[in-house]
Amino acid sequence: MSAVAGLVLAAGQGTRMRSRLPKVLHPLAGRAMIDHVLAACAAANLDPLVVVTGHGGDQVETALGSRPVVRQDPQRGTADAVKIGLTRIPESAQQLVVTMGDVPLLPAEAIEALSSAQAGADAAIALLAVVMGDPSGYGRIVRDSSGNVAAVVEEADADAAVRTVVEINSGTYCFDLGWLRSIIDSVPPSASGEYYLTDLVRLAVDAGRRVVVVTADDPLTVTGINDRVQLAAVEAALVARIIAAHQRDGVTVVDPATTRIDVEVTIEPDARIEPWTILAGTTAVGAGAIVGPGSVVTDSRIGADARVVASWVESAEVGVGARIGPMAHLRAGSVIGPSSEVGNFAEVKNTRLGRGVRQHHFSYLGDAELGDEVNVGAGTVTANFDGSTKHRTVVGAGAFLGVDTTLRAPLTVGEGATTGAGSVVIHDVAPGETVVGVPAHPIRTGPDEHA
Ligand code: UD1
Ligand code: CA
Repeated sequence: MSAVAGLVLAAGQGTRMRSRLPKVLHPLAGRAMIDHVLAACAAANLDPLVVVTGHGGDQVETALGSRPVVRQDPQRGTADAVKIGLTRIPESAQQLVVTMGDVPLLPAEAIEALSSAQAGADAAIALLAVVMGDPSGYGRIVRDSSGNVAAVVEEADADAAVRTVVEINSGTYCFDLGWLRSIIDSVPPSASGEYYLTDLVRLAVDAGRRVVVVTADDPLTVTGINDRVQLAAVEAALVARIIAAHQRDGVTVVDPATTRIDVEVTIEPDARIEPWTILAGTTAVGAGAIVGPGSVVTDSRIGADARVVASWVESAEVGVGARIGPMAHLRAGSVIGPSSEVGNFAEVKNTRLGRGVRQHHFSYLGDAELGDEVNVGAGTVTANFDGSTKHRTVVGAGAFLGVDTTLRAPLTVGEGATTGAGSVVIHDVAPGETVVGVPAHPIRTGPDEHA
């Protein structure tokens, strides 16, 4: 079978979103609305896959990167959008799937069902329909006395009888491409002056060509997002599906109602996601890890058997068996070594901790590197910023930083060194050396001082 081409219509204004951001770029579960549609089209092997842009075109095209796009300006309706889109579809293709950028739950299987129904029946059009409890706003499918599709009538043009029809047009179709090219210029303008793609149904019937219907069983999968109420409802359904899929793969999600997991997150079996937790972006959670309650983890790796309790983790790595929180903030570039413990109002930024580091109480480590088994006393702070530049702090393995140590960067504290409580360290500390005071100075340690 030759390739099925795809066209995604995304030029409309999306007025009801009342948004500066083009509608199709609104995120759902960590991915732009249109990227969900494009993922389904790609999974159904539509090739090429072309997007019709228009309103907010610069922004949409930037977000789409290298994907083929064609601009529709002005936006004169869905048939006009398809006509412009056709200029980018190769002559070799025989089937064209048309869908819209605002149906993020559209499954790849529905697209495949449409293309096989169209080809199987040699139909001019296969269209995806669904029975909607509340059909208002949608184009209604009007059938003749034998039950064959006669037309799709838009809400604006529907009389009272047609408005009672609950079988609606989802807006996704597969066309016989040769026929589509031959007829697209014949679509008449509607009363509003727009060119309706749905008028092709009547034109096909008039020409004696078949129009077949594929019925989606779940209305949600074809729900077009027009406002932010629908955006939230569809996102909630999407998140519920994502969570259920993880649960089936062996992840415990204690309370799906208070958990959010983005579409690209990966979680290994036997991880446990506690209530009130958000796993966002490209986060990966290892086997046996426990995240939450009350954690927000974005674009981060959580190692196997680690714990992240009531903490905020952004673009960071948490090692195997590490303990984070409660109340820790790991910022970009933090790498927490295996079995390390960071919690109780601790902040870490662009800092690497070795294995078994303990940073238990209100402290800040920025632009630093700590070796294995370093003890970070309560209130320890890296003074990493001199007013214009950030500087690095290096602390050797086994060092003991006393309570309330200030480390003025750039600074190196040697392996096994000790700083006294309240010390302000402004000079490098040699391995094994003990410094105390403000500014900190070495004290001799000998048998008499170490009772
Ligand atoms: C459309 C269908 C309707 C169907 C409904 C399903 C038509 C005429 N009507 O109505 O039968 O029930 O979808 O949700 O097609 N677009 C363009 N260029 C334009 C106009 C629209 O690219 O000039 C794009 C929009 O960005 C959107 C899609 O086409 O992604 C649908 O447009 P919209 O105005 O939302 O159509 P509906 O009124 O929802
Ligand atoms: Ca719509």
